[in-house]
Amino acid sequence: MKIAVNTGGGDAPGLNAVIRGVVLAAYKKGWEVYGIKYGYKGLIDTKQIIRLTPEYVWDITNIGGTILGSAIKGDPFRYLVEKSGGSVIETDISDIVVSNFKALGFDALIAIGGDGSLNIANKFFKKGIPVIGIPKTIDNDISATDVTFGFDTAVNTATEAIDKLHTTAKSHDRVMVVEVMGRYVGWIALYSGISGSADVILIPEIPFDIEKVCNKIKQLRLIGQDYAIVVVAEGAKPLGGDVTVIEKSPGEVRLGGIGKKVSDEIEEKTGKETRGIVLGHLQRGGAPTTFDRLLCLRFGTAAIRFIEAGKFGSMVTLRSTEICAVTIEEAIGQMRTVPLDSDIIQTARSLGVSFGD
Ligand code: F6P
Repeated sequence: MKIAVNTGGGDAPGLNAVIRGVVLAAYKKGWEVYGIKYGYKGLIDTKQIIRLTPEYVWDITNIGGTILGSAIKGDPFRYLVEKSGGSVIETDISDIVVSNFKALGFDALIAIGGDGSLNIANKFFKKGIPVIGIPKTIDNDISATDVTFGFDTAVNTATEAIDKLHTTAKSHDRVMVVEVMGRYVGWIALYSGISGSADVILIPEIPFDIEKVCNKIKQLRLIGQDYAIVVVAEGAKPLGGDVTVIEKSPGEVRLGGIGKKVSDEIEEKTGKETRGIVLGHLQRGGAPTTFDRLLCLRFGTAAIRFIEAGKFGSMVTLRSTEICAVTIEEAIGQMRTVPLDSDIIQTARSLGVSFGD
């Protein structure tokens, strides 16, 4: 068997551990693995394909990023092609990918990515490429798996940062507002906010009222806590309002800035000195946690077993403690948002956390 593997979309800690799992499990079966560089670009310009031998992946479990590189704007079904005259046109060049895949004699593709990359993988499956998907995203927004890899590491990074903000907030009697990632879902904000003893957590699933956020901060003062920690997911929005974006270009909306907005409003309405910080891509970097490493190695090796069993068109998932298969179609159909009646929300409320609602 000749297996191709690629990594697509924003990177997440653990991608290299998945690749290691794939390569070593394939090697044990006598199969060959090739890394397609930069998402699908390596199947468009086939010079960007590398043979992945065990030596190549021995010591990469703990390394952040991806040895294959990743592409955010490389969808072959909507590829940006520059025409003479300088204009850029979206063009469907997926047939080139399919024919190169076949010409190179690949038997299967392991596509590691988030909802966008899995959607592309599913389209290639429908065009005849035998695909297995592996769910990646620090946002943890894929519903078919209990958890995606990268999330645990991102939460740890955010929690550690919030811990550090506590001491400086307390020293200066300030409000610290920390913006964390989470485009459509509040998992990172919720997990890190609760674990980091935040006073206010704002998530996309619960539109917030800034007056209620400020009331919470004023109440803290009455009970003798002169500082406060506010954790805001980048996709959080005020009641009746919309998400805050840094820039919008065709096909791309970059979120960011909600932390600054919230910080300015808190300072104005409470009179408390307030500082805002954005954790940003720090959450995507660094060594994966033990949990993520194990999950990644399990996902990667399971993908090889799925290929052997002919489970094409499926994605590797974690359900409770078991690794299972689900169709990619099903996996990309629904986003995993925070259920408002979940235990984790109740826990936060019982601890006195305000969601600004
Ligand atoms: O999907 C993961 C994510 O980290 C989002 O939370 C965030 O909005 C986005 O990636 C940022 O991506 P980029 O690398 O394009 O800035």
